[in-house]
Amino acid sequence: MALRTAPRPAPAKPAPAPKAAPAAVPVAPMPATKALSLPATPTPGVKTTKLRVFRYRPERSDEPFYQEYTIPYHDDMVVLDALNYIKDRVDPTLTFRWSCRMGICGSCGMNVDGTPELTCSTYLKDLKKVPCVVEPLAGFPVLKDLVVDVEPFMRKLESVKPYLIRAEEKPLERGEYRQTPDQVEVYRQQSMCIHCMLCYAACPVYAHDPRFVGPAASALALRYELDSRDQGSAERLAAVATEHGIWQCTFVGECSVVCPKDVDPAGAIQQLKAMAATRLMRSVLLPLSSR
Ligand code: FES
Repeated sequence: MALRTAPRPAPAKPAPAPKAAPAAVPVAPMPATKALSLPATPTPGVKTTKLRVFRYRPERSDEPFYQEYTIPYHDDMVVLDALNYIKDRVDPTLTFRWSCRMGICGSCGMNVDGTPELTCSTYLKDLKKVPCVVEPLAGFPVLKDLVVDVEPFMRKLESVKPYLIRAEEKPLERGEYRQTPDQVEVYRQQSMCIHCMLCYAACPVYAHDPRFVGPAASALALRYELDSRDQGSAERLAAVATEHGIWQCTFVGECSVVCPKDVDPAGAIQQLKAMAATRLMRSVLLPLSSR
């Protein structure tokens, strides 16, 4: 009797010859920040300040620690300049996020002396304490040093359906859904959010319940609720009016205090609550045809 054997996987096809790499696009060098013109070591006549920086290096140890740095500074330096100075001139192992250095990308948020701040907009000269304490944003898992895990936050943004929902999409050839400037003005405030997560770091409800949908995601939901082109209110309100949704907010308002763009997420949550309550009342009181 012939022995049965497992079928062999089909031989792999030869890989196609690699295409020639596209010609490199020349990239302009980043302009050096003014901080880098400072001397590498404390120098007579140059002002110095101290930063006490949270460090967490999971590849070395599970225990976080604080490291103090003394650096030269001038009055137009922000906290991010100081961190870049440390990274470039003192300690290249220090890890943190930043990108635009102008309050737009929202990636440089950290707790500075216990307050959530955009470090690219926080001047060293305005800080009351020396050393100033720089820590990762409160309430988020820390991946390394000052870098937090943004994944849970991204899932919250997704959960509020941040896109136009139409009962029926019109064909592309019939053009875009148009708005007047006044209709844009209705949701402009909420659309200014840069998703820096400062509002979450300041929110006591989020500190207590990490599943809370939270301020920025709620402001994003309201931005689409107020959009004249959207027809998905019932769906979106159902997504935010859940057990860990808008009803959890106790209107402390700290999220709006720390918001660098005046989005007023605390107000946005209260508006969503009113919308959700109105929709619920209508569904109870009105016949199906007139809701
Ligand atoms: Fe972009 Fe600060 S670096 S907001």
